[in-house]
Amino acid sequence: MSEKTFYITTPIYYPSGNLHIGHTYTTVAADTITRFKKLQGYDTYFLTGTDEHGQKIEKVAEAAGVAPQAYVDGIVTGIKNLWDTMNISYDQFIRTTDPEHEKTIQRIFKQLYDQGDIYKSNYEGWYCTPCESFWTESQLVDGNCPDCGRPVEKASEEAYFFKMSKYADDLMKYIEDNPHFIQPESRKNEMVNNFIKPGLQDLCVSRTSFTWGVPVDFDPGHVVYVWIDALPNYISALGYLNDKPNLMEKYWPADVHLVGKDIIRFHTIYWPIILMALKLPLPKQVYGHGWILLKGGKMSKSVGNVVDPVVLVDKYGVDALRYHVLREMSYGSDGVYNEDLLVSHINSDLANDLGNLLSRTLAMTDKYFGGVIPKERETAEIDHDLIDLAEKTPAIVSDYMDKLDFSRALEEIWKLVSRSNKYIDETQPWVLGKSPEKQARLAQVMYNLTESLRIVTVLISAAMPETARKIGEQLKCPEASLTWDSIQKFGGYPEGLKIERCEALFPRIELEKKAEQPVKDAKAKTEKAKKENDSPSSEELPEGLITIDDFAKVQLRVAEVVACEPHPDADRLLVLQLLVGQEKRQVVSGIAKYYAPADLVGKTVILVANLKPVNLRGLESNGMILAATKGKKLSLVTVDGIPSGGKVS
Ligand code: MSP
Repeated sequence: MSEKTFYITTPIYYPSGNLHIGHTYTTVAADTITRFKKLQGYDTYFLTGTDEHGQKIEKVAEAAGVAPQAYVDGIVTGIKNLWDTMNISYDQFIRTTDPEHEKTIQRIFKQLYDQGDIYKSNYEGWYCTPCESFWTESQLVDGNCPDCGRPVEKASEEAYFFKMSKYADDLMKYIEDNPHFIQPESRKNEMVNNFIKPGLQDLCVSRTSFTWGVPVDFDPGHVVYVWIDALPNYISALGYLNDKPNLMEKYWPADVHLVGKDIIRFHTIYWPIILMALKLPLPKQVYGHGWILLKGGKMSKSVGNVVDPVVLVDKYGVDALRYHVLREMSYGSDGVYNEDLLVSHINSDLANDLGNLLSRTLAMTDKYFGGVIPKERETAEIDHDLIDLAEKTPAIVSDYMDKLDFSRALEEIWKLVSRSNKYIDETQPWVLGKSPEKQARLAQVMYNLTESLRIVTVLISAAMPETARKIGEQLKCPEASLTWDSIQKFGGYPEGLKIERCEALFPRIELEKKAEQPVKDAKAKTEKAKKENDSPSSEELPEGLITIDDFAKVQLRVAEVVACEPHPDADRLLVLQLLVGQEKRQVVSGIAKYYAPADLVGKTVILVANLKPVNLRGLESNGMILAATKGKKLSLVTVDGIPSGGKVS
């Protein structure tokens, strides 16, 4: 059994409705770090689940005309399906309605009451009679009930309270002695200055105004109130004070509680205090991540702008979505979701950078060596830079992963992907392929590329398990060559394997809406022009003539050729890598008879940018470059002095 353990939790989600992309982010992040730690040899335990009690759930169920338990059962099935779809490999899914959890909560409540940390008093608040709900002053909207808008009245009910202030000094000391307890750092200052220093209020931990909760067994009529039911899920799951298998000794204290910024207070103040009262060690870290926002602000069911991850997975695939949320959310800050950004991540990072690196490497290995890289190889000075980076990258990625900075971790992996693509352009395998005496050098180039891809595969396996599996299969990597240890040194790709080319990893996504827009606009303009100027529409023109609006449908852009190589499977074709403003494009063009690849690099050409992508002998061509021809002559149309991305009209 491994000695190093790693216990991570997500918040337990309210099953009041289906979960959205924000909850998906947290769970994907927890899954990614768990897989990464497992890869590094840790004995991991990953807990997620649902927080099923409380008045809100009781009301939603009532509105749906079902009992609360039946209501949450339905939602929980959906949540579990979502996690299966997202390829989440949790070890336990805890529900606060599990009898074992309820047992723990009752025992904790009783123990805290017996030792004097919980006492009975009166809860004072604003009561809405029709809704049967208590509200605090700050929850009221214009002095009225936030749910129904009706007037509220001051009322009090008998309730139990937890003496938070008793533990405030011990908590401050723990926070000071453990600088990594609250992460990111900015959240720590917020907790200390805004909540702990001004003085902690005692926490109301029971209610009598609703029944959907864990009963206080020694005082009928009271149910345990929200946080003291929810927070101990992290230990009830490990068998604390119940009859589940006892995993406390092995996994407690948790290494990380991953939570959203809105609930960091409960995890860094209430939860440690409950643990102190129970004389249990405190979690090593609470990490508060930012929120996924939409352009207009928050996602909300009532506004109807909730982003459904299942729809996105159907459309783009699970790893594309996993990559996108992890890459988009920078360390501890909010991120913005929009579909164009997701598509641009797919097209640029996944299809263009990673997908092309794999397809080019496989195609060339196939073409030059029938799929098996020869053992006779010849190194060169130029290899060192790539090898250096490949050897450094795992440690850098591991550091960022430890900090839960997934965005930077992926950025570092993609530096290696880009460096490998650049290495193809530098070494020009297609030139080496022409000389029989350069076979050993060519073999080394192909080996280095394949080896970099193997290292990339292992590094992305936590964030994108499915993609890593597909690459590993195509490179025919045996399991032993996909371990953490095996990527600490360059050169672990085994000899004699025969690669196997399959379909593209990430087919490019056409930006339908964007591509359609100009067409729609052009049509509208034609109609408008027809009305205003009485100019003919294209259907009314003499055959062969088009209107200016017809021409405007073709999007012409200035593009710079940044790399070019022969097509591995077709002598007539060249494969060009173009830069169009910030965007990278691959275009396959039938101009090999007229240009040597090296002559094209640096040229500024004109690209038909909204042409439907096609597959030419196994490689995607996304656009067409313009050329003038007459008889046997051909010349590419080039421009001077206009930077790439410029429009041609
Ligand atoms: N049940 C409590 C947690 C109890 S943990 C002991 C709860 N549930 S929740 O369903 O409302 O929220 C769960 C998590 O989802 C929170 O961490 C919250 O920050 C997160 N998110 C909700 N919307 C989010 C985004 N738009 N973006 C990222 N995370 C978001 O609170």
